[in-house]
Amino acid sequence: MSSPESNVPPTASGPPTASGRPRTSILVVDDDADMREWVKEDLESEGFVVETAAGGRAGVQRVKAGGIDLVVSDVKMPDLDGLDLLREIREVAPMPFVIIVTGFGSIDTAIRAVKLGACDYITKPFKIDQLLLSIDKALAERSLKTEVARLREEVHRRDGMDNIIGRSPAMQEIFALIRRVSASHANLLVTGESGTGKELVARALHAQSPRKNRPFVAVNCAAIPENLLESELLGYARGAHSTASTDRQGLFVEADGGTLFLDEIAELPLPLQPKLLRVLQDGEVRPLGMNRAVRVDVRVIAATNRDLERRLHEGRFREDLYYRLNVIQIHLPPLRGRQEDILALAEHFLARAVARSGKQVRNWRESAKKILLGYHWPGNVRELENAVERAVALAEGEFIGPEDLPPSMQERRNQDRLASAVAQGFTLDQLEREYIERVLEIEGGNKTRAALRLGLDRKTLYRKLEEYAASPRDTVAKAPDEPT
Ligand SMILES: Nc1ncnc2c1ncn2[C@@H]1O[C@H](COP(=O)(O)OP(=O)(O)OP(=O)(O)O)[C@@H](O)[C@H]1O
Ligand SMILES: [Mg+2]
Repeated sequence: MSSPESNVPPTASGPPTASGRPRTSILVVDDDADMREWVKEDLESEGFVVETAAGGRAGVQRVKAGGIDLVVSDVKMPDLDGLDLLREIREVAPMPFVIIVTGFGSIDTAIRAVKLGACDYITKPFKIDQLLLSIDKALAERSLKTEVARLREEVHRRDGMDNIIGRSPAMQEIFALIRRVSASHANLLVTGESGTGKELVARALHAQSPRKNRPFVAVNCAAIPENLLESELLGYARGAHSTASTDRQGLFVEADGGTLFLDEIAELPLPLQPKLLRVLQDGEVRPLGMNRAVRVDVRVIAATNRDLERRLHEGRFREDLYYRLNVIQIHLPPLRGRQEDILALAEHFLARAVARSGKQVRNWRESAKKILLGYHWPGNVRELENAVERAVALAEGEFIGPEDLPPSMQERRNQDRLASAVAQGFTLDQLEREYIERVLEIEGGNKTRAALRLGLDRKTLYRKLEEYAASPRDTVAKAPDEPT
């Protein structure tokens, strides 16, 4: 007998059998012994694992014991018929696929069986090929379902935390903070240099929150011209301005129930700031040209790589808005301060780039790792990600060497780090202050960790910081500019 091999999809339920089909356990339920044996033999010769039950009652018991993928059941049986069997096994999770074998002409029964959850029916008398076709269809459906579930899971993971690499204590603290605050509705401000992962964290916060099945809407405040930004955010009514030929719902309404990510919030034009503040305070938006307000339930996560507090003092950012947005702050430290993360990220990006490119690159040479560890990463994780992509594209053998890294990174290694400080005439005190402030910044303002890293006790660090606070910053020479 021929079997439609090409129709057989792989499923997640184990290695394929000799027939090319995935390993599948089938239970044949029939009160007719000849019929049972005939079907069992033929299915076994197709590579299925087959058990039998002599009646509906025994069949239900066997299914409840677990491990059965598919049931082929006769309808007419003395103790419990095929439809009752279906009713009773519906509560088994996951319910096995059921193919019902009906007598010729009993289309009613077939329809009832399908309504009760049977995946297919065949009528007697049948050829084994008909049954095989029906089984293969059921398996294809299962493999599709498994695939959909897997993809769904992957989408969640991609947005979630599994995707954020961070072994350093600073990142571990951030993970804990994300877990703690994701359930709250409080607005958040994510700060950190460019490329430190602010958007990644914002997405993870959303994915971890009760809002995860509602929209995550991202808007870059720096990328949209001032006059458009307002109508983008708030929406407008038809005729509100010359190009408004229809009503347009704003991003706040679009994000209703979910999260609005306001990226580069420092660039939000001053005239728009009180309008945003009003939405955050009132929980409603008033689209341009509309005299009615629309209630919205939106959690705002804002991000910036700028010094917002300085903008506050310069009068370029409203204080009241700042406090509304900054209910909880997450600061992402620059990569150069997260030594433990550099190689972990390099490995993560390497695996991804290799999978994409299909190249046989396996690992980093020690000499290349040293460069990665010693580099100052002005572009942070994004720069590392790009460097790895480039290195994998260039690598010729199984290992990535220094020659595969961007020239600017290789040069940096040979530089005398103190040379520029000497050239700028730093005193020892100035250098110390620069150094302490830099480490503190790298540690996200955490004084305990900064003290640890500096080899100072906390009291000493506090004292020094107080001294610095008392003496104006511009008496200190500017830090040597890092070459890029
Ligand atoms: N901890 C991390 N683990 C894995 N990937 C990361 C991590 N941090 C950042 N990335 C990746 O680095 C790139 C830059 O991250 P992201 O866009 O979130 O940075 P950003 O802080 O928003 O930068 P910018 O201020 O320039 O907008 C992205 O591709 C992101 O996936
Ligand atoms: Mg960003």
